[in-house]
Amino acid sequence: MSKFIIEGGTKLKGKVNISGFKNAALAIIPSTVLCKEKCIIENIPMIEDVKVYKEILTSIGAKVEMIDETSMEIDASEVKEINIIKALPKNIRASYYMWGVGLGRFKRVSMPLPGGCDIGERKFDYHIKGFEALGATVELTDKSITFFADKLIGNRIYLDFASVGATINIMLAAVYAVGRTTIENAAKEPHIVDTANFLNAMGADIKGAGTDVIRINGVAELKGCTYGVIPDQIEAGTYMVAAAATKGDIIIDGIIPKHLEPITAKLVEMGMGIEEYGDSLRVFYEKELVPVNIKTLPYPGFPTDLQQPMAVLLSSLHGESMIEESVFESRFKYVDELRKMGADIEVSDRIAKIKGTGVLTGTDVNATDLRAGAALIVAGLVAEGVTEINGIYHIDRGYENIENKFMNLGARIKRIKS
Ligand code: UD1
Repeated sequence: MSKFIIEGGTKLKGKVNISGFKNAALAIIPSTVLCKEKCIIENIPMIEDVKVYKEILTSIGAKVEMIDETSMEIDASEVKEINIIKALPKNIRASYYMWGVGLGRFKRVSMPLPGGCDIGERKFDYHIKGFEALGATVELTDKSITFFADKLIGNRIYLDFASVGATINIMLAAVYAVGRTTIENAAKEPHIVDTANFLNAMGADIKGAGTDVIRINGVAELKGCTYGVIPDQIEAGTYMVAAAATKGDIIIDGIIPKHLEPITAKLVEMGMGIEEYGDSLRVFYEKELVPVNIKTLPYPGFPTDLQQPMAVLLSSLHGESMIEESVFESRFKYVDELRKMGADIEVSDRIAKIKGTGVLTGTDVNATDLRAGAALIVAGLVAEGVTEINGIYHIDRGYENIENKFMNLGARIKRIKS
């Protein structure tokens, strides 16, 4: 078990390179199993969730090899079925993409239920509804899930909520379905587009990814290809918020600025300076920041994965603000930890009311989930004194090399193995 020790009070300065997008990599890596030829996936973030996916693919008979620090070669030609009986060592939410892949390629898949961060009920009824519309049958127990079909036939599927996971999963299952599948009220997150681009690079016929309506015309086969994952907008957003909270001046490099617009807009509203240079952004403090209200929404709204570091930033200012969480029902568990550091936050249902006191104080805290962990690092950076963060395996699941990246920006953070 490791922990982070952070001495607060340093203004971040310098340049940070952004890694490949966790959520895109976790969809694209399993998607390679749809194809019977080798694929090379570049710009993969070296995070724990990727390592778990490597284990999942190896366990079903795929050959997975890192060919350099960020490129993975996957050969799923010998995979005969996806029938995972044993509980996965560290089960992750994105293991649900094996459902779409298994149905798509083998018309059958059976595996333990997905895990992931404890941020609400995290249902998968839209995934099931989508697969059933294509002709699949589901068998669900309290521990495992099985989908099977004789044949998948394209259909029109309306999602009641623009679910990221369901949109991608239906795309994966529909790639080989007979005829056309239409997903209405589809999610529009950048990783939906990235996954569709990857599938199309293998020979799929998917149009409309990034809009509300995605059309998938079934194809007979897919071919191997080389593909690079897009940069991680949530990682980039975390460093942007950290720059604002520490009154810093940093360059966020290797990004797609368009994907960051929801966060850029909020930071500018608060008074941060932001300059765009091609694939980088300069994020700099120039005047006292003002509190703002935030409502999380599916893309292009403000991302739910960044409300936690924003709660830290808002707590570090003077004045009142509000965060409304409209994507997940229970995503404020981290607030208890922030309160230990002096934050004045009142949560009622899906709304957090923040009374910024202008100061946070270092103490021992516990990362309750991935994004909460990132928020606690930002809190440690602004706090007076020393912050000790336990439970940091949550952070390692989704942030590559986080302490070194922050150290390069001047932060005083170290990892202690206990
Ligand atoms: C993905 C991301 C996660 C991000 C979230 C929202 C990955 C691996 N994870 O999670 O980082 O926070 O999108 O941007 O990409 N829902 C249902 N039924 C379903 C599916 C979802 O009711 O079948 C509900 C969920 O409980 C949640 C909301 O819809 O309240 C959004 O979920 P969804 O977009 O599916 O998120 P995930 O794919 O779990």
